[in-house]
Amino acid sequence: MTQFPLDIFAQTRTPFYFYDLNLLQATLTEIKQSVSQPHIHVHYAIKANANPEILKVIKENGFGVDCVSGGEVEAALNAGFAADKIVFAGVGKSDWEIELGLDNNISCFNVESAAELDVIQEIAQIKGKTARVALRVNPNVDAHTHHYITTGLAENKFGISLDMLDSVIERCMVSPNIELLGLHFHIGSQITEIHPFERLCQRVNELQDKYESQGIKFSSINVGGGLGIDYNNPDENPIPDFKAYFSTFEQHLKLRPGQQLHFELGRSIVGQCGSLITKVLYVKEGVAKKFAIVDAGFTELIRPALYQAHHKIENLTSNSTKTHKYDVVGPICESSDRFGEAEILPTTSRGDLIALRSAGAYGEIMASQYNCRKLPQSIYAK
Ligand code: LLP
Repeated sequence: MTQFPLDIFAQTRTPFYFYDLNLLQATLTEIKQSVSQPHIHVHYAIKANANPEILKVIKENGFGVDCVSGGEVEAALNAGFAADKIVFAGVGKSDWEIELGLDNNISCFNVESAAELDVIQEIAQIKGKTARVALRVNPNVDAHTHHYITTGLAENKFGISLDMLDSVIERCMVSPNIELLGLHFHIGSQITEIHPFERLCQRVNELQDKYESQGIKFSSINVGGGLGIDYNNPDENPIPDFKAYFSTFEQHLKLRPGQQLHFELGRSIVGQCGSLITKVLYVKEGVAKKFAIVDAGFTELIRPALYQAHHKIENLTSNSTKTHKYDVVGPICESSDRFGEAEILPTTSRGDLIALRSAGAYGEIMASQYNCRKLPQSIYAK
């Protein structure tokens, strides 16, 4: 369970991110224990959090990286990740980003359209290189998650639709500077049921059977990420059930001999190790409500405003045994700048420290400087 060092917090300017690197290490250890076979490769989805201290721990544990921009490829290389453990996805890769990947010999481009394949072929040819690619297939599997973070449905912008896959595979075959490694999938994020992953496995099996009958073999399958975390009970469930997750793939995916299996996990690795720590500036008595106005806003944590997400809110410093309902709101000039409505908290006063839990993934990395605010600092428990 994450312990909050309040003495250190008292000397640190709020708002800031607090990362429990011991929990991160325990999470990584659990993953390594759940996947001992050498054909399984876990790439950390760096989009979830690119804080250098976090990257250092993940790198030291031998993980690869999943990137979706040239900036992320640079961040991964700067953190010391080996290029041959970097995969690079994204629907809109710019020419310089493709060049960066080729110049550094990254392990695989996850290609999302025929048009992109042609540009990669063209740039690889100019450089006299071979680009290793996996085709990102849109498997039309419903992830049962928030519509903003579901990615595998047919009408989604991501991936190559099943109808067009044959023609893109053929195009790979006739592109001299392209080496087709396999297929890539990602159905969405914050998936808390196991069934969507089972359906994904079935879809992969169908496709493998189909292409095998045509004599096409893939050396690798990438099933993306998406495993969810328990936002309501971060202390009870600090580490997701990785054993159940990986064993779903082990049971349902019919891998061919020698085939490599790749995962791209973001939230499930870093989500629970981070909290946003903020200070109560004012308690404002409304007509029918009390507002706890805190010094963090959606500039530091945008998930509640953008996805109606809820992060558990805790008053770390109140000693009161009485509770009240508070709307916990930030200082940004927009009504969506609200972390919680009618939150039951102990009597809360100016100066109290509040933790917004489970903010390690898609928190700090999505921070903005709207209202000319400063980007948050971060501190660590090691
Ligand atoms: N692979 C691909 C191709 C992805 O697009 C993503 C996430 C991942 C892997 C990692 O997914 P994860 O294991 O973290 O679920 N900002 C949103 C989440 C966006 C996820 C985008 N793609 C949020 O705060 O909920």
